Amino acid sequence: MMVNRNILTLDEFTLQQLRQFPSATGELSSLLRDIGLAAKRVNVEVNKAGLVDILGDAGSVNVQGEDVKKLDIYANNQFMGVLKHGISCAGIGSEELDDFVVFNDEVSNNSKYVVLFDPLDGSGNIDVNVSIGTIFSVYKRVSEKGKPCTKEDFLQPGNRQVAAGYVIYGSSTMLVYATRRGVNGFTLDPSIGEFSLSHPDIQCPAEGKFYSVNHGNFFQYEEPVRRYIDACQRKTKETGGPYTQRYVGSMVADVHRNLIKGGIFMYPGTTDKPKGKLRLLYEANPCAFIVEMAGGSATDGKQRIMDIVPDELHQRTPLFIGSKLMMEELDNYQTGKI
Ligand code: AHG
Ligand code: MN
Ligand code: MN
Ligand code: MN
Repeated sequence: MMVNRNILTLDEFTLQQLRQFPSATGELSSLLRDIGLAAKRVNVEVNKAGLVDILGDAGSVNVQGEDVKKLDIYANNQFMGVLKHGISCAGIGSEELDDFVVFNDEVSNNSKYVVLFDPLDGSGNIDVNVSIGTIFSVYKRVSEKGKPCTKEDFLQPGNRQVAAGYVIYGSSTMLVYATRRGVNGFTLDPSIGEFSLSHPDIQCPAEGKFYSVNHGNFFQYEEPVRRYIDACQRKTKETGGPYTQRYVGSMVADVHRNLIKGGIFMYPGTTDKPKGKLRLLYEANPCAFIVEMAGGSATDGKQRIMDIVPDELHQRTPLFIGSKLMMEELDNYQTGKI
């Protein structure tokens, strides 16, 4: 079979977008190129994770109190490294680092953006060869250009994101990238080592049949969430069902499926952890941005995720995210309408 070589690569795609805005500086395109490069490097390591000693716990515990896997650290350093050496990023925040990092050199201090990321999402799945990912979020800094970036650059609400995306290291490796102009998916073509536009203009179906939640915590969820999950299980043909329950344990993979096919992902608060497990800045906000730009929505059960004003880098939030009409039904339970 002939391979179609007319498919745009990630670089070609961003350059094409850039040509439509001759006044643009190209900093965002350059930042995305840096992220694409780090993703390719991480992909190579993820692919051989079962073979070499990079697999397994690194023996330390991150700021969230979870065991850190070696690949978490490798991925963190790759993403931090490309952004530091690039020309677009003044500093980063990472799930794996206690504090944000200010690059603090002349070029970085004059750069427009800061980036927050979860270098490896779903790291518990590394040892068992299940899809994992990287999630990233881009903000225009609010601090004075020419000076080092500051904490307030990182503590902006999600609605100020200029771009966000994720990479899935799965049966194929994909990069999904969202700006206010839309959401596009690129699949890594191993024959040329480039991300190629495979899913242009992704739209999240308004309704779907997938619901993703950790059923093991069911009795720890608040009553409205339990009633909604119960309703999901009772769906019939007549009421838009039957639904299928799918929960990978890598949020990126679950959100990706639901984004493409239609569905809802939930990580509610539990009695043990009222704010749930997921981090607002590294996981919830970027996914909320991507899903909203594709027509879906995301809340913490009470308000829109992207309207939450963060007060600390590592804060957690319950997360409900997915297809618009499914989210509306859930909202009816959470507001007591049903
Ligand atoms: P991370 O590996 O970055 O710590 O994130 C794992 C997250 C998320 O990807 C996933 O949906 C969730 O943890 C699974 O948690 P439970 O096992 O508690 O359901
Ligand atoms: Mn973690
Ligand atoms: Mn994660
Ligand atoms: Mn992680």
